[in-house]
Amino acid sequence: MGAKLAGKKILLGITGGIAAYKAAELCRYLTKEDAEVRVVMTVGAQQFITPLTMQALSGNPVHTELLDPEAEAGMGHIELAKWADLILVAPATADFIARYAAGMAGDLLNTILLATTSHVMIAPAMNQAMWLNQLTQRNINTLKSALGDCLGIVGPDKGEQACGDVGPGRMIEPIDICDYVKSFFSVETSSLLAHRKVVISAGPTQEALDPVRYISNHSSGKMGYALAASCAKEGAEVVLVSGPTKLETPKGVRRLDVLSAIDMKDAVLSQIDSPKDIFISCAAVADYRPQIAQQTKIKKKPGEGEIMTITLEQNPDIVATVASKENKPFTVGFAAETNDVLAYARDKLQRKNLDMIIANDVSNPEIGFNSDHNAAWVLTASEEKVLPKQSKDSLADELVREIARHL
Ligand code: PMT
Repeated sequence: MGAKLAGKKILLGITGGIAAYKAAELCRYLTKEDAEVRVVMTVGAQQFITPLTMQALSGNPVHTELLDPEAEAGMGHIELAKWADLILVAPATADFIARYAAGMAGDLLNTILLATTSHVMIAPAMNQAMWLNQLTQRNINTLKSALGDCLGIVGPDKGEQACGDVGPGRMIEPIDICDYVKSFFSVETSSLLAHRKVVISAGPTQEALDPVRYISNHSSGKMGYALAASCAKEGAEVVLVSGPTKLETPKGVRRLDVLSAIDMKDAVLSQIDSPKDIFISCAAVADYRPQIAQQTKIKKKPGEGEIMTITLEQNPDIVATVASKENKPFTVGFAAETNDVLAYARDKLQRKNLDMIIANDVSNPEIGFNSDHNAAWVLTASEEKVLPKQSKDSLADELVREIARHL
C-alpha cells in the first residue's frame, strides 16, 4: 500500500448530495495511499458533512469560499487549480454536473474546474430519475465531448437508493473510486489502454426454470476475470459484467453481478457509451432460456418414466447487439468451439460484425472451460494469429496487447 499515490496531489471536490458522507471514507483511502489531499466543499456539501471532519481526515485546511480574502491569500482558486495532479469530484450531483457542463464559475469548485488544465474525474450520485433525465444525460455528453480524455466519469452504480428508488445513480463505492484513481496514476507513465473504458462480460449465465433450478454451463469466469485484470493493469477503466462465479474481483475493476442473459445484456448496454470504448464478450451466454420461468417449484409427476418437455426460446445475442450499435465500440467476441474451430470463428467474426474474435477449442479439458490454462487464435478481418497454451493470466496479457494494437 502507499506507493501508487505517494506524492500525488489530489483535489477532492465534494458537492451536496446524500453520498457526501462517503467522501470522508474516500479521503481516508486516498491519504492511506500517501496521496496529498486538499478538499473543496460546496455550500450544499456542508449540509451533509462538516469541513472540520474533512480537515481532520485530509490533514489540510478545507476550502469553501471563492471570495474569502484570507483563503485567497493562502492558496487561492488559481493556485488550487494549478496545484492538483487530479481533481476528483465525489459525489458529483446533477446540479454540479449541469453547472460544470455550462462552464459556470459561480462557486469555488466550478471556478477551479474552469481554471484547471489537470485531469478531472467525477463520480456522479443522484436519484435514478435525475440520472436518466435527458437533461442530465445531455450535460454528461456535453462534458464528454468538450473535455474528451481530460475527464473520467466513474459510475454511477445501479441499485437501491437512499430515497428507496432502485436504478442507476448510486455513487460507486469509495474503495472503487480509489482504485480508479490509482489506475489513473499508474497509467500516466506506461499504458496501452490509458483513458479507455473496457466493458468485459465473463462467466456463465443462469436461466431460471423455477425458483430453485436453472440452465447454465461450465464457465468459471477465469478467462474474463484475467482479461479484466490485464486491462486494469494497462490503465483502462474496467467494468466487469459477471455471471455467477466464485472469483474475487480483480484490483481496479468495477464489477456488476448478473444472472440471466437478459440481465447481462441490460448491464452491458448500460455501460457502453462511446465508440472509444472496448467491449470484450468473454461470457458463456446461454443461447436459449426456458420460455416460462415457473413462479413456484416444478413438482415431479407421479409414475416412472414420465417425460417432461421444456420449451426454450432464444436469448438476445449480446455481442451482436453491441456490434450493431450506430457508434459501436471496438467489439471483441470469443468463439468457444469443439470442432472446425477456425471456420466457425471466421463465420462469427463476420456474421456478428465483430472487430476481432478470439477462438478457443473447448473440446480439450486442459484448456477452455474452467481450466487455469487456455490457448487461442486471434482473428480479425485481415489477420490470424496463434497464441499457444499458457496460463489464462498470461494469455490475457497477450490478448490485451493484440487488442491495443488493433485500436
Ligand atoms: O470462464 P472460463 O471457465 O475461464 O472459460 C472461458 C471460456 C471458454 C468461457 C471463454 O474462453 C469463451 O470461449 N467464451 C465465449 C463462450 C461462448 O459463449 O462462445 P460462443 O461461441 O457460444 O459465442 C460467441 C460469442 O457470442 C461470444 O463472445 C459470446 O460471449 C457471445 N454471445 C453468445 C450468445 C449470446 N446470446 N450472446 C452473446 O453475446
